[in-house]
Amino acid sequence: MNKALRKAVIAGNWKMNKTRPEAKALIEELKPLAANAGCDVVVCVPFTNLETALAATAGTNIGVGAQNCHFKESGAYTGEISAAMLKEMGVGYVIIGHSERRQYFAETNETVNLRTRAALDAGLTVILCVGEMLEDRENGITEELVALQTKVALKGVTREELSRIIIAYEPVWAIGTGKTATSAQANEVCGMIRKVIAKLYDQAAADGMTIQYGGSMNAKNAAELLAEPDVDGGLIGGASLKAPDFGAIIDAAGK
Ligand code: PGA
Repeated sequence: MNKALRKAVIAGNWKMNKTRPEAKALIEELKPLAANAGCDVVVCVPFTNLETALAATAGTNIGVGAQNCHFKESGAYTGEISAAMLKEMGVGYVIIGHSERRQYFAETNETVNLRTRAALDAGLTVILCVGEMLEDRENGITEELVALQTKVALKGVTREELSRIIIAYEPVWAIGTGKTATSAQANEVCGMIRKVIAKLYDQAAADGMTIQYGGSMNAKNAAELLAEPDVDGGLIGGASLKAPDFGAIIDAAGK
Protein backbone atom coordinates (compact mmCIF):
# COMPACT_ATOMS: atom_id res chain seq x y z
CA MET A 1 0.00 0.00 0.00
CA ASN A 2 1.84 3.05 -1.19
CA LYS A 3 0.36 6.43 -0.38
CA ALA A 4 2.74 8.04 -2.87
CA LEU A 5 0.87 6.28 -5.69
CA ARG A 6 -2.17 8.48 -5.28
CA LYS A 7 -2.95 12.15 -5.02
CA ALA A 8 -4.71 13.52 -1.98
CA VAL A 9 -7.99 15.26 -2.77
CA ILE A 10 -9.44 17.87 -0.44
CA ALA A 11 -13.05 18.55 -1.33
CA GLY A 12 -15.41 21.01 0.30
CA ASN A 13 -19.06 20.06 0.58
CA TRP A 14 -20.88 23.32 1.03
CA LYS A 15 -24.25 21.54 1.40
CA MET A 16 -27.19 24.00 1.27
CA ASN A 17 -25.14 27.08 2.08
CA LYS A 18 -24.09 30.33 0.39
CA THR A 19 -25.84 32.72 -1.95
CA ARG A 20 -24.05 33.60 -5.19
CA PRO A 21 -22.31 36.73 -3.81
CA GLU A 22 -21.26 34.74 -0.75
CA ALA A 23 -19.97 31.92 -2.94
CA LYS A 24 -17.91 34.32 -5.03
CA ALA A 25 -16.44 35.95 -1.91
CA LEU A 26 -15.52 32.59 -0.36
CA ILE A 27 -13.81 31.38 -3.54
CA GLU A 28 -11.88 34.64 -3.94
CA GLU A 29 -10.63 34.26 -0.37
CA LEU A 30 -9.75 30.63 -1.00
CA LYS A 31 -7.84 31.11 -4.26
CA PRO A 32 -4.54 32.38 -2.80
CA LEU A 33 -4.74 29.80 0.00
CA ALA A 34 -5.11 26.96 -2.52
CA ALA A 35 -2.70 28.28 -5.16
CA ASN A 36 0.27 26.22 -4.00
CA ALA A 37 -1.67 23.17 -2.88
CA GLY A 38 0.15 19.86 -2.82
CA CYS A 39 -3.19 18.11 -3.36
CA ASP A 40 -6.22 18.42 -5.61
CA VAL A 41 -8.76 20.95 -4.37
CA VAL A 42 -12.47 20.83 -5.17
CA VAL A 43 -15.48 22.83 -4.02
CA CYS A 44 -18.87 21.12 -4.25
CA VAL A 45 -21.43 23.89 -4.27
CA PRO A 46 -25.22 24.15 -4.53
CA PHE A 47 -26.57 23.97 -8.10
CA THR A 48 -27.38 27.70 -8.02
CA ASN A 49 -23.70 28.50 -7.36
CA LEU A 50 -22.16 26.32 -10.07
CA GLU A 51 -21.92 29.03 -12.70
CA THR A 52 -20.51 31.51 -10.19
CA ALA A 53 -17.98 28.95 -8.94
CA LEU A 54 -16.90 27.99 -12.46
CA ALA A 55 -16.33 31.63 -13.38
CA ALA A 56 -14.48 32.42 -10.15
CA THR A 57 -12.20 29.37 -10.38
CA ALA A 58 -11.41 29.65 -14.13
CA GLY A 59 -7.67 29.36 -14.66
CA THR A 60 -7.04 28.22 -11.08
CA ASN A 61 -6.26 24.83 -9.56
CA ILE A 62 -9.67 24.65 -7.85
CA GLY A 63 -12.12 22.14 -9.33
CA VAL A 64 -15.87 22.56 -9.12
CA GLY A 65 -18.39 19.88 -8.19
CA ALA A 66 -22.12 19.44 -7.67
CA GLN A 67 -23.64 17.57 -4.73
CA ASN A 68 -25.95 15.21 -6.60
CA CYS A 69 -27.23 14.38 -10.08
CA HIS A 70 -30.06 12.32 -11.48
CA PHE A 71 -29.46 9.02 -13.27
CA LYS A 72 -31.60 9.73 -16.33
CA GLU A 73 -30.22 11.82 -19.16
CA SER A 74 -33.34 13.97 -19.47
CA GLY A 75 -37.09 13.74 -19.15
CA ALA A 76 -40.00 14.23 -16.78
CA TYR A 77 -38.12 14.39 -13.48
CA THR A 78 -39.25 17.65 -11.95
CA GLY A 79 -36.62 19.25 -9.76
CA GLU A 80 -33.76 17.08 -10.94
CA ILE A 81 -30.48 17.86 -12.74
CA SER A 82 -28.74 15.39 -15.06
CA ALA A 83 -25.07 14.52 -15.17
CA ALA A 84 -24.92 15.69 -18.79
CA MET A 85 -26.25 19.11 -17.76
CA LEU A 86 -23.43 19.40 -15.22
CA LYS A 87 -20.83 18.27 -17.72
CA GLU A 88 -22.02 20.72 -20.35
CA MET A 89 -21.52 23.59 -17.88
CA GLY A 90 -17.93 22.58 -17.27
CA VAL A 91 -18.48 20.95 -13.88
CA GLY A 92 -15.84 18.29 -13.18
CA TYR A 93 -17.04 16.49 -10.06
CA VAL A 94 -20.21 15.30 -8.39
CA ILE A 95 -20.81 13.94 -4.90
CA ILE A 96 -22.94 10.80 -5.04
CA GLY A 97 -24.59 8.95 -2.17
CA HIS A 98 -23.93 11.44 0.62
CA SER A 99 -25.48 10.18 3.86
CA GLU A 100 -27.81 13.18 3.97
CA ARG A 101 -29.20 12.11 0.60
CA ARG A 102 -29.52 8.54 1.88
CA GLN A 103 -31.21 9.68 5.12
CA TYR A 104 -33.50 12.46 3.88
CA PHE A 105 -34.03 11.81 0.17
CA ALA A 106 -34.56 8.06 -0.04
CA GLU A 107 -31.22 7.37 -1.70
CA THR A 108 -30.45 3.65 -1.75
CA ASN A 109 -27.38 1.64 -2.71
CA GLU A 110 -29.12 0.92 -6.01
CA THR A 111 -29.82 4.55 -6.88
CA VAL A 112 -26.28 5.43 -5.81
CA ASN A 113 -25.10 2.90 -8.37
CA LEU A 114 -27.38 4.34 -11.07
CA ARG A 115 -26.21 7.89 -10.36
CA THR A 116 -22.58 6.79 -10.32
CA ARG A 117 -23.03 5.11 -13.71
CA ALA A 118 -24.75 8.19 -15.15
CA ALA A 119 -22.05 10.52 -13.86
CA LEU A 120 -19.27 8.36 -15.30
CA ASP A 121 -21.09 8.10 -18.63
CA ALA A 122 -21.30 11.89 -18.76
CA GLY A 123 -17.56 12.20 -18.11
CA LEU A 124 -17.68 13.44 -14.52
CA THR A 125 -15.49 12.38 -11.61
CA VAL A 126 -17.56 10.90 -8.78
CA ILE A 127 -16.98 11.48 -5.08
CA LEU A 128 -18.76 8.37 -3.84
CA CYS A 129 -19.81 8.48 -0.19
CA VAL A 130 -20.09 5.45 2.04
CA GLY A 131 -20.31 5.13 5.81
CA GLU A 132 -22.08 3.54 8.73
CA MET A 133 -24.61 4.90 11.21
CA LEU A 134 -23.74 4.86 14.90
CA GLU A 135 -26.10 1.92 15.38
CA ASP A 136 -24.22 -0.08 12.72
CA ARG A 137 -20.92 0.58 14.45
CA GLU A 138 -22.39 -0.43 17.81
CA ASN A 139 -23.75 -3.61 16.21
CA GLY A 140 -20.29 -4.41 14.87
CA ILE A 141 -21.34 -4.39 11.22
CA THR A 142 -19.34 -1.40 9.95
CA GLU A 143 -17.11 -3.52 7.77
CA GLU A 144 -19.91 -5.53 6.16
CA LEU A 145 -22.09 -2.48 5.64
CA VAL A 146 -19.41 -0.29 4.08
CA ALA A 147 -18.23 -3.18 1.90
CA LEU A 148 -21.81 -3.69 0.70
CA GLN A 149 -22.29 0.02 -0.06
CA THR A 150 -19.00 0.08 -1.99
CA LYS A 151 -19.70 -3.09 -3.97
CA VAL A 152 -23.21 -2.12 -5.03
CA ALA A 153 -22.18 1.46 -5.91
CA LEU A 154 -19.44 0.16 -8.22
CA LYS A 155 -21.58 -2.42 -10.01
CA GLY A 156 -20.85 -2.10 -13.75
CA VAL A 157 -17.95 0.31 -13.22
CA THR A 158 -14.93 -0.74 -15.28
CA ARG A 159 -11.33 -0.86 -14.14
CA GLU A 160 -10.52 2.08 -16.46
CA GLU A 161 -13.30 4.19 -14.98
CA LEU A 162 -11.88 3.90 -11.47
CA SER A 163 -9.56 6.81 -12.25
CA ARG A 164 -12.72 8.95 -12.08
CA ILE A 165 -13.89 7.56 -8.76
CA ILE A 166 -12.93 9.00 -5.38
CA ILE A 167 -14.37 7.20 -2.38
CA ALA A 168 -15.26 9.22 0.70
CA TYR A 169 -15.60 7.24 3.91
CA GLU A 170 -17.93 9.25 6.11
CA PRO A 171 -19.16 7.68 9.32
CA VAL A 172 -22.63 9.19 9.69
CA TRP A 173 -22.17 9.71 13.42
CA ALA A 174 -19.22 12.01 12.72
CA ILE A 175 -20.93 14.29 10.19
CA GLY A 176 -21.68 17.75 11.48
CA THR A 177 -21.52 16.50 15.05
CA GLY A 178 -18.04 17.65 15.99
CA LYS A 179 -17.41 13.98 16.81
CA THR A 180 -14.53 12.95 14.57
CA ALA A 181 -13.52 9.34 14.05
CA THR A 182 -10.13 8.72 15.58
CA SER A 183 -7.38 8.61 13.00
CA ALA A 184 -7.07 4.88 13.70
CA GLN A 185 -10.79 4.31 13.06
CA ALA A 186 -10.66 6.35 9.85
CA ASN A 187 -7.60 4.48 8.64
CA GLU A 188 -9.08 1.10 9.48
CA VAL A 189 -12.21 1.59 7.40
CA CYS A 190 -10.38 3.34 4.52
CA GLY A 191 -7.98 0.38 4.46
CA MET A 192 -10.89 -2.05 4.48
CA ILE A 193 -12.47 -0.25 1.51
CA ARG A 194 -9.13 -0.53 -0.28
CA LYS A 195 -9.23 -4.30 0.26
CA VAL A 196 -12.72 -4.40 -1.25
CA ILE A 197 -11.36 -2.59 -4.33
CA ALA A 198 -8.47 -5.06 -4.55
CA LYS A 199 -10.93 -7.96 -4.49
CA LEU A 200 -13.32 -6.41 -7.01
CA TYR A 201 -10.54 -5.31 -9.38
CA ASP A 202 -6.87 -5.86 -8.50
CA GLN A 203 -4.19 -4.66 -6.12
CA ALA A 204 -2.90 -1.92 -8.44
CA ALA A 205 -6.43 -0.53 -8.70
CA ALA A 206 -6.68 -0.52 -4.91
CA ASP A 207 -3.27 1.12 -4.51
CA GLY A 208 -4.26 3.88 -6.93
CA MET A 209 -7.70 4.62 -5.44
CA THR A 210 -8.10 7.90 -3.58
CA ILE A 211 -10.04 7.22 -0.38
CA GLN A 212 -11.00 10.26 1.68
CA TYR A 213 -12.20 10.57 5.22
CA GLY A 214 -15.09 12.89 6.01
CA GLY A 215 -16.89 13.82 9.21
CA SER A 216 -16.02 16.86 11.34
CA MET A 217 -12.58 17.19 9.76
CA ASN A 218 -11.24 20.62 10.65
CA ALA A 219 -8.10 22.76 10.72
CA LYS A 220 -7.04 21.21 14.03
CA ASN A 221 -7.53 17.49 13.43
CA ALA A 222 -6.79 17.30 9.69
CA ALA A 223 -3.04 16.74 9.92
CA GLU A 224 -3.41 13.69 12.14
CA LEU A 225 -6.16 12.12 10.02
CA LEU A 226 -4.38 12.85 6.73
CA ALA A 227 -1.13 11.35 7.98
CA GLU A 228 -2.75 7.92 8.13
CA PRO A 229 -1.49 5.59 5.40
CA ASP A 230 -4.92 4.78 3.93
CA VAL A 231 -6.47 8.26 4.22
CA ASP A 232 -5.94 10.17 0.98
CA GLY A 233 -7.70 13.42 1.65
CA GLY A 234 -10.95 14.68 3.04
CA LEU A 235 -14.53 15.61 2.28
CA ILE A 236 -15.17 18.62 4.43
CA GLY A 237 -18.52 20.16 5.31
CA GLY A 238 -18.61 22.81 8.02
CA ALA A 239 -14.93 23.72 7.86
CA SER A 240 -15.07 24.25 4.09
CA LEU A 241 -17.31 27.29 4.61
CA LYS A 242 -14.44 29.27 6.16
CA ALA A 243 -11.53 29.92 3.81
CA PRO A 244 -8.78 30.00 6.48
CA ASP A 245 -9.94 26.66 7.92
CA PHE A 246 -10.24 25.02 4.51
CA GLY A 247 -6.86 26.49 3.58
CA ALA A 248 -5.29 24.96 6.68
CA ILE A 249 -6.70 21.54 5.73
CA ILE A 250 -5.29 21.93 2.20
CA ASP A 251 -1.90 22.73 3.74
CA ALA A 252 -2.11 19.67 5.99
CA ALA A 253 -2.85 17.44 2.96
CA GLY A 254 0.12 18.75 1.05
CA LYS A 255 2.59 17.67 3.71
P1 PGA B 1 -18.81 17.93 8.26
O1 PGA B 1 -19.51 17.31 6.96
O2 PGA B 1 -17.36 18.18 7.89
O3 PGA B 1 -19.56 19.18 8.54
O4 PGA B 1 -18.93 16.90 9.35
C1 PGA B 1 -18.82 16.38 6.15
C2 PGA B 1 -19.73 15.94 5.05
O5 PGA B 1 -20.93 15.77 5.28
O6 PGA B 1 -19.28 15.72 3.91
